[in-house]
Amino acid sequence: MPFRIAVIPGDGIGPEVIAQGLRVLDAVSAATGTRLDRVTYDLGAERYLRTGEILPDAVFKELQTVDAIYLGAVGDPRVDNPQYAAGLLLRLRFELDLWVNLRPSRLLAPGLTPLRDAASIDLVVVRENTEGAYVGMGGQFKRGTPDEIAIQEDVNTRKGVERIIHYAFELARQRRAAGQRGRLTMVDKSNALYHAHDLWQRVFALERQASPEIEAEHLFVDAAAMQLVKDPSRFDVIVTSNMFGDILSDLASELVGGLGQAPSANINPDNRRGLFEPVHGSAPKHAGKGIANPVGAILAGAMMLRHLGDEAGALRIERAVMSAAADRRTTKDLGGALNTTEAADAVLERLERIGSSLPS
Ligand code: NAD
Ligand code: IPM
Ligand code: MN
Repeated sequence: MPFRIAVIPGDGIGPEVIAQGLRVLDAVSAATGTRLDRVTYDLGAERYLRTGEILPDAVFKELQTVDAIYLGAVGDPRVDNPQYAAGLLLRLRFELDLWVNLRPSRLLAPGLTPLRDAASIDLVVVRENTEGAYVGMGGQFKRGTPDEIAIQEDVNTRKGVERIIHYAFELARQRRAAGQRGRLTMVDKSNALYHAHDLWQRVFALERQASPEIEAEHLFVDAAAMQLVKDPSRFDVIVTSNMFGDILSDLASELVGGLGQAPSANINPDNRRGLFEPVHGSAPKHAGKGIANPVGAILAGAMMLRHLGDEAGALRIERAVMSAAADRRTTKDLGGALNTTEAADAVLERLERIGSSLPS
C-alpha cells in the first residue's frame, strides 16, 4: 500500500523549497521502493486572501486521514489577521495532537558553525507542541485604550508534561544505545514561572528516578541559551516547553549553519500521525527569487521517510545532504553559490552516487 501524503506548500519560499524536497523524495522512494501518493492542498495566504478560508473543516477532516503531511511555511505580510498562523499550522499541531516537535541540529560539515571552536554539534530539541502559551487561552479587554489588558495563559497539563518528558528520556536512551551521548537536559524557567514550571520540575524528578541510568540535568532557559553558544557539544537531547522550544531551536539551527538547513517533525507517537516541515518560515524577502536553501525541506522529507519506516531512504538523503554541504555545493547561506534548484540537484547527484553503497 502506498503512503498517502498531503503536501501543503504554503507561503513565501514554502512552495520553492517543497518542490525541491519532493524531487528528492521521488528519487529516493524510487530507489527504496517506498511508495508515496501525494495530494497537494492550496492552503495558505493566497487562498485566504481570495476566499477568507484558512483551514476549512472539510479539508481538516481529509488531513486527519493521511499518513503524513509535508508542509513548506505559513506566513505572508499581506495577511493582517493575527490568528492566521494559529488557524492553519497551530490548528494542525493541536487538533491532530502532534505533541512532539523534534528539531535536530547536526553540524552537516566542518566550518558551517559561526562558533570559533565548536567541532561537533549533534543535538535535538524535543519541543512540547500542544500546550504552553500557544494554546490561545486569554483575551483582550478595553482593546486600544490606555487601560487595555492583554492576557495569554501559559497552559501546562500533567498529561502533556509527562508525555513529553517521558518521550525525551526514551529518546536519550535510544541515542545512547546508538552510540551517541544520550544526555538529557530539561529546560524551564521554574525560578520565575513557579506554578507552571514547578510541574515540569516534579515530573522531571519522577522520570529521573525511574531512569537513573540516563544522564539528566536541568538548566533554566536563560542559562541554556548561554550554554548553547558557549559549549553546544554538552547537549544531546533538550526537552522544553512550546515557546522555549521555538526559540532554542532557531538558536540551535543557526549554530549548525542556519535556519535554511533545519528540519522538523511534528508527530504523535501513539497514533503515528505526523507533519514534517522545515524549522524556518516563509522568509518573504527571499520569496520568488529562487535563492532559498532547500535543505531544511529536504531533511524534513528524510524525517518523514524515517517516520514512515523507511530508515534506509532517510539515511540516503542525510548522507547526500552532508556530502553536498562538505563540498559547499549549496546555496549562499551554507557557503556555496547555487540557487535553490541547483542545490537540490547537488543532493540528487550524490544520492545517485551513494545509492549503490547503501542497503535499500
Ligand atoms: P523566517 O524563518 O521566515 O526567516 C528568517 C530569516 O532566516 C530569513 O530572512 C532568512 O535570512 C533566513 N532563512 C529562513 N529560511 C531560509 C532558507 N530556506 N534559505 C535561506 N535563508 C533562510 O522567519 P521570519 O522572517 O521571522 O518569519 C517570516 C514569516 O514566516 C512570518 O509570517 C512568520 O510567522 C512565518 N513563520 C512560519 C513558520 C512555519 O511555517 N513553520 C516558521 C517560522 C516563521
Ligand atoms: C515555528 C514557527 C511557528 C511557531 C509560528 C509560525 C507560529 O515559528 O514553527 O517554529 O512558533 O511554532
Ligand atoms: Mn519558530
